[in-house]
Amino acid sequence: MLLNVDAINVHYGSAQVLHDVSINVKERELTCIVGRNGAGKTTLLKTISGFLKPTRGTVTFEDRTISGMRPDKVALLGVKYVFQDKRVFGDLTVRDNMELAAYPIKANLDEAIERLFSISGKMKKLIDSKAKGLSGGERQILLIGRALAGSPKLLLIDEPTEGLAAIVINDIARILMEMKGRLSMVVVEQNLAIVSRMADRIYIMKEGNVLREITEEAEIRDQAYIESLL
Ligand SMILES: Nc1ncnc2c1ncn2[C@@H]1O[C@H](COP(=O)(O)OP(=O)(O)O)[C@@H](O)[C@H]1O
Ligand SMILES: [Mg+2]
Repeated sequence: MLLNVDAINVHYGSAQVLHDVSINVKERELTCIVGRNGAGKTTLLKTISGFLKPTRGTVTFEDRTISGMRPDKVALLGVKYVFQDKRVFGDLTVRDNMELAAYPIKANLDEAIERLFSISGKMKKLIDSKAKGLSGGERQILLIGRALAGSPKLLLIDEPTEGLAAIVINDIARILMEMKGRLSMVVVEQNLAIVSRMADRIYIMKEGNVLREITEEAEIRDQAYIESLL
């Protein structure tokens, strides 16, 4: 098992938001987390990536306990979190945004930029443009490209298609499908058509709990069934 989240509780102040949440991520699998707004999906990803600390339970990555580690340490181990808010450094160029991702982890900038181009060729003509001019989809591609700097082992991507137009959603889904199998991913996604198409494993979250783990291929591909569980 690449990642094991074992019975974690997470609080914001005195409010408990995650209750005994456990998930498993296998190497090279694409795991989807689904659930309505407020279910605790973002809290789970932030806890795995070190931005929040569980009050109980452990997160283990490659047999090492990472719960309690700082986010920069977790990132150096190869676990990268792509935030839900799609924030880029708007006044900087795409290239400089890439450099800010590569520098702290001592990743090779040219390689990182090549990888960005390999996920989306249309970033080539945008490389010297200010990031604030990018469309929502281009921003998301830049954020995924930033996360890929330094060849991470596990990407955690929080609602990559949220707020995007249908045609752009397909673009992002294609990129995730192409990345699939080359690294491991945990994707929080509310678009069930995409989830059904790409997931190897699904966790349904509700009110801070994991309601169900789905690994049967026939169940994963049955969008109506997944919908009925939310
Ligand atoms: N910074 C915070 N302080 C207090 N409560 C929060 C904070 N962030 C999220 N919450 C609460 O935690 C719960 C889970 O939120 P979140 O993990 O963002 O859910 P999701 O990503 O599934 O929409 C919600 O009830 C939300 O209101
Ligand atoms: Mg969220």
